[in-house]
Amino acid sequence: MTQKPCPWTGERVFEIRRALGRRLKEAGIQEAEIEARHMLGAVLDEWPDPDLRLDKTGAQALEAMVLRREAREPLSHILGAWGFWSLDLAVSKDVLTPRPETERLIEIALGHLGQGPLKILDLGTGSGAILLSLLQERPDAMGLAVDRSPAALQTAMQNAQSLKLDTRTMFVEGDWDAALPHGPFDLVVSNPPYIAHDEIATLEPEVRRYEPVLALDGGMDGLDAYRAILPLLPHYIKPGGAFVLEIGADQGAAVSDMAQAQAGLGDICVSQDLGGRDRVVSGLCN
Ligand SMILES: C[S@@+](CC[C@H](N)C(=O)[O-])C[C@H]1O[C@@H](n2cnc3c(N)ncnc32)[C@H](O)[C@@H]1O
Repeated sequence: MTQKPCPWTGERVFEIRRALGRRLKEAGIQEAEIEARHMLGAVLDEWPDPDLRLDKTGAQALEAMVLRREAREPLSHILGAWGFWSLDLAVSKDVLTPRPETERLIEIALGHLGQGPLKILDLGTGSGAILLSLLQERPDAMGLAVDRSPAALQTAMQNAQSLKLDTRTMFVEGDWDAALPHGPFDLVVSNPPYIAHDEIATLEPEVRRYEPVLALDGGMDGLDAYRAILPLLPHYIKPGGAFVLEIGADQGAAVSDMAQAQAGLGDICVSQDLGGRDRVVSGLCN
């Protein structure tokens, strides 16, 4: 049986980029051009002379990536890494790929941090994106990361080590209340699962097929995690300390109502992401 030649072998980089963009577009990928650049960048050591031709090894590596992407596997899983805030994070099938909207949570959280030394708690840390970004910004802080998924915690630990933040980070495997013996904290942050259960089946294939259900499923109305986390906050947070939670775009009123109804939570504020959608609920513990 004769093997089909790999389509990119001997082709010039600038031609490949165009053809790759077209192929990804046909597969239904929205940001096809940008992704084509990322994939090419991953098989080339540095961005080359556009006339350079791809050798057989590079061409095969690229084709393997394209086939995975055409099957709608997320680019982040294919590359094994993703940018968030100022960090380059390892990601895997066991963690949610950190989203740009979550950077809004980082901005708001930084605004709540007073003088150090500080203790920060991240509930549902996943890749560690939130906590590690805050620790990177604040060398006077230490943090504790909780997740129920041991595999996610492994990825978060790997990220803490490669960013040299592991000496300031502790990891606890368990449910939302697992860090109670380690408090109190100056700041509690969380991006919990908040998609309504039935909505998951309607999401893009990259999300519904490849991202961990534990990171997505917020129960019948998407609010289960907030119902569990909010009553814990007065026990977790020092008087005058703050909480910052990511929310779904239609959950601002429900989550802030719940936060107000919980003892000691005040100054509740709903903030929007760059797209103008409600994205963060924050407040203080009096
Ligand atoms: C939406 S992801 C957020 C990941 C990361 N913080 C980020 O923003 O990219 C939610 C995380 O919460 C974790 N999680 C879900 N239910 C949990 C529970 N009951 N207790 C602790 N962690 C939980 C999931 O494993 C997942 O890593």
